[in-house]
Amino acid sequence: MMKKIIFLVFITSLFYLGCNTTKTATTLVDQFNYEVQKKIVCENGAVVSAHPLASKVGVAILKMGGNAVDAAIATQLALAVVYPNAGNLGGGGFMVARLKDGKLVAIDYREKAPGNAHRDMYLNPAGEPQLELSQYGHLSAGVPGTVSGLFESRKYATLSFDKLIQPAIDLAEKGFAISERDAKAYNALKDDFLKYSTQTPAFVKDNLWKGGDTLIQKDLAETLKRIKRKGSKGFYEGETARLIVEEMKRGKGIITLEDLKNYKAASREPHVFEYKGYKIVGMPMPSSGGLLVHQMMKMIEDKPIASYGFHSPEAVQLMVEAERRAYADRAQFMGDADFYKVPVSTLTSDKYLKERMADFVPGKASNSEQIKPGEIPAIESEETTHLSVIDKSGNAVAVTTTLNNSYGSKTVVGGAGFLLNDEMDDFSVKPGVPNMYGAIGAEANAIMPGKRMLSSMTPTIVLKDGSPYLIIGTPGGTTIPTSVFQTIVNIIEFNMSTEDAVWKPKFHHQWLPDEVYLEKNFPPATKKSLEGMGYKIVERNGIGRTEVIKILSNKKFEAVADNRGDDTAEGW
Ligand code: GLY
Repeated sequence: MMKKIIFLVFITSLFYLGCNTTKTATTLVDQFNYEVQKKIVCENGAVVSAHPLASKVGVAILKMGGNAVDAAIATQLALAVVYPNAGNLGGGGFMVARLKDGKLVAIDYREKAPGNAHRDMYLNPAGEPQLELSQYGHLSAGVPGTVSGLFESRKYATLSFDKLIQPAIDLAEKGFAISERDAKAYNALKDDFLKYSTQTPAFVKDNLWKGGDTLIQKDLAETLKRIKRKGSKGFYEGETARLIVEEMKRGKGIITLEDLKNYKAASREPHVFEYKGYKIVGMPMPSSGGLLVHQMMKMIEDKPIASYGFHSPEAVQLMVEAERRAYADRAQFMGDADFYKVPVSTLTSDKYLKERMADFVPGKASNSEQIKPGEIPAIESEETTHLSVIDKSGNAVAVTTTLNNSYGSKTVVGGAGFLLNDEMDDFSVKPGVPNMYGAIGAEANAIMPGKRMLSSMTPTIVLKDGSPYLIIGTPGGTTIPTSVFQTIVNIIEFNMSTEDAVWKPKFHHQWLPDEVYLEKNFPPATKKSLEGMGYKIVERNGIGRTEVIKILSNKKFEAVADNRGDDTAEGW
């Protein structure tokens, strides 16, 4: 029997006053009448994602007999319709899974630089970076990977693809009620959508949007139908590919038919390490996430952090210094390992990590001028969305996908109805020049044709006694690995409830800029102590939107959605 522990947040009262309450688009979900649910405890399966309708689609697929991979595919397709700020067909992502037979899976569907990309493509003749070009519009787009990734994931799915994509088609074709938050975003971005798209997209209307309005996306529905009919070729070849390339030509973009046809998602070896008896399974390059979490956790492992206490100045300082050192290494050594030899074994060796923390002084801030990337012998190299899924037979799936910035490049492919990413900004456009997240990079992450840009996405599964214990991930650009790091430490070391581990304020340090970001509701006493130690503190709004499923000792699933957005936990 399902036991629900729920508290509800009503997206907008408009929903309940003025909307249609019948399931006109699909028998799976009522797209005009839904609510945010932050927690559920259940025993048959659970899905946590950034949008209530997407979580509901995932659970409906589980109820139809699909496994967690089926549910993850259907949830991603639904997010591409109802959560266009990061759910996507025109972007990319990563999936980490632990299947019921114990197999560990990592699928890389990160975007790639187009064949005509080159190292200095965002520099003007004087060598100055033109960040508008790497962050907005046609030229900022990498070759999309999502659709190829969904089909690569299908190796582990059980239901027909028709069943998995139909809810997304219905939501696009018949529409769904947008939230107050969506309405504000579409209104605020109207000028950008018009500036960077060559045909007026569905997100633009003459009057202002308001919560409860219906968003219909006919062009997107047709694209989804082509994928339903023709599989991955329905996106990478034929009509959709033609529409993408025509859009490129209208907006001086460089993605070609050949780039699209050649795109292939890659199955990779997951990045796995042990921490105090837990096995932590994450994404390898081209995501820095698995490696950064590994480095940060190992840098604190020999310290009695549990005795310091959650949010104590001692614990926060220790974690900040681990974050600083790991991110210094990210800037220097991390990039697409298909193109650059990332020195993973050195960066994660006990000796190296011990040396990295040798100059840590409790109670005193280090300095990013002095904390350089580590010494590696010559032989060796925010807006996003996450979903966590589990099914009754124990298949566990963590997926993080992105268009990079919220709503990506703001370029909607004319006639195809989906947004293109602006992922090219995740490359190092010039050594030392910060990207939109303030992260800098070097040769390891320089632009090359066909190369994948370095990511921070960190879909992660923690195993306890060999079985799934936590399924976790978050959006948040460079804050992703630090949010995952802190959430795992909160649960494993501070023994916190899952809600507290996710909802309590987070902090972030990324080497450069040499600042500690604190969420605005961070405890003032700890903030003051950190300032006293010499840290420059910068307050900011929410860090991450972390979605966690914890497998309880009674084998039930505790699914918790972040309270920083409309994220929703569903299950049965
Ligand atoms: N675009 C954000 C990331 O991949 O880290």
